[in-house]
Amino acid sequence: MSAFPPGPAEPPVVQTLRWLLRPISFLESCRRRFGDVFSVTFLGFKTPMVMVSDPDAIRALYTVPEHHLPPGRTLALQPIVGARSLLLLEGREHLARRKLMLPPFHGARMRAYEDTVREVAARDVEGWPRGEPFAIHPRMQAITLAVILLAVFGVTDPVRRERLAERLGRLLADTASSGLQFGVLLSRRFGGPDPLARLGAQREEIDAMLSAEIAERRADPREDILSMFVTARFEDGEPMDDEEIRDQLMTLLLAGHETTATALAWTFDLLLRHPRVLERLVAEDDDAYVRAVVAEALRLRPVLPLAGRRLSRELRVDGHVLAPGTDVTPAIWLAHTRADRYPEPFAFRPERFLQSAPATYAWVPFGGGVRRCIGAAFAEMEMRVVLREVLSRVELRPATPAAERVARRNVTFSPATGTRVVAAPRASIAAHAA
Ligand code: HEM
Repeated sequence: MSAFPPGPAEPPVVQTLRWLLRPISFLESCRRRFGDVFSVTFLGFKTPMVMVSDPDAIRALYTVPEHHLPPGRTLALQPIVGARSLLLLEGREHLARRKLMLPPFHGARMRAYEDTVREVAARDVEGWPRGEPFAIHPRMQAITLAVILLAVFGVTDPVRRERLAERLGRLLADTASSGLQFGVLLSRRFGGPDPLARLGAQREEIDAMLSAEIAERRADPREDILSMFVTARFEDGEPMDDEEIRDQLMTLLLAGHETTATALAWTFDLLLRHPRVLERLVAEDDDAYVRAVVAEALRLRPVLPLAGRRLSRELRVDGHVLAPGTDVTPAIWLAHTRADRYPEPFAFRPERFLQSAPATYAWVPFGGGVRRCIGAAFAEMEMRVVLREVLSRVELRPATPAAERVARRNVTFSPATGTRVVAAPRASIAAHAA
C-alpha cells in the first residue's frame, strides 16, 4: 500500500484553485471518488494533506496531544499574531498558556459578558436600514469586533474604540482576500516579494495602541479579559509580559472575530430560508431551541473547513497507516454531512439536536483535543444573544431568492454575497397582524 491514501490526480495548482474557488464541490467530488479518507496536494506543500471525516478517525487524530501544528500556520499567522500566540505554540508552552487563558471563557465569568453582547447588538440594529436590502455579514462583523474590543480588550473609551476598530478592520480585510492567499502560496513556491510584508507598518500602529491599553489595565485592572491576563500567573508564578499579552490579544481577535461573525451570517441565511424554524425560534422563549439552532447552523455551515495536525506518531485510519510527519485534517464539512450520522444530512433541522447534544467527534466546528477552540462557549453564547436580540427587534426577510453559496474568505467558508436581507421593525408586523 502506498504511503498516502488515493486522491485527485490533477496538478497541485488545479487542486488549490478548486479548493479556493469551489470548496464544497471539490470536497464532494473527493468523497464520491475516494470515500472517507483521501489525499489532496495544495500548491506550496511538498507532501499531500490527508483528509478524514469518519468520527473514529477524527477521535484518533485529536486524542493524541503530541501531534504538531498543521503546516503553514506559523508562516501565515505570525506576522499578525506574533510568535508567542496560543495559535502557534506547541507542547508545554502551549498548555501553560491555555491554562492561563481559559478561565474567563467559561462559566459565570463568561456569562458576565452577556450584557455587553446584548447592548452592542441592540445598538447596531438601531442603525440598520428599514425596508431596503443590505448585507448582514458586515453588521455581524461590526458587532463581533465591538464585543471583542469591549469584553476582551476592555476599550471603553468610544473614540479609542472607533480608532482601534478601524485599524484592526483594515488589517483583517487586507489579509482576507483569496488573491492574497494565492499570492502567499505562490511566493512560497517560487520566491519573490512577500505579500505579507506591507502589513508590518499597520501592525506597529496597532501595537502602540494595544500597549497603551495594557499599561492602563496594569495600573487599574477591571472586568475585561485583558485585565485577567494582566493579573494571571503561570504555574511558576511569572506573569505574561506585555509583548506576549499583545500577541494573545491579536490571537483572540483573529480567532474570534471573523469566525463568530461568519457563523452568525450563516445562521441568518439558514433561518431566512427556513421560515418554520425562524417562526419557532421567535415564538419560543426556550433556551434549548436557540442552542439547537446554533449547533445545527455550525454543523451545516462550519466556518473553518480544516483544523489539522502534523502527525508526531503513526496514525491508522481506515486501513491506511499514516507515517509520522504526515499532515492530517478532518474535512469538517464532510464530517458534518455524513448520512450515517445525520439523517437527511443536508437539511437544516435544529430539532435533531433537541433530543441529543452533538456527538464530540461527529460535530467538530471548534476542532478538538488540546487545541480545541478556547472561545467555543463564548462564541455560542454570543450567537444566542445576538440572534435573540436581532429577532426581537426586527423582522428579517431574504433579499435574494437563492441561499448563499459557500465562498472562501481568509481561511473561512463565508456567505458569498454577505447574506443580503431586508429588515422591518417587529412592532409594525404586530400592528399589521392585528
Ligand atoms: C463560531 C465561532 C468560532 C469558530 C467556528 C472557531 C473555531 C475554532 C477552531 C476550529 C479552532 C481549532 C484550531 C485547531 O485545531 O488548531 C479554534 C481555536 C481557537 N479559537 Fe476559535 N472559533 C470560534 C470563536 C472563537 C472565539 C470567540 C474566540 C475567542 C475570543 C476563539 C479563540 C480561539 C483560540 C485562541 C484558539 C486556539 C486554541 C489553541 O490553539 O489552543 N475562537 N477555533
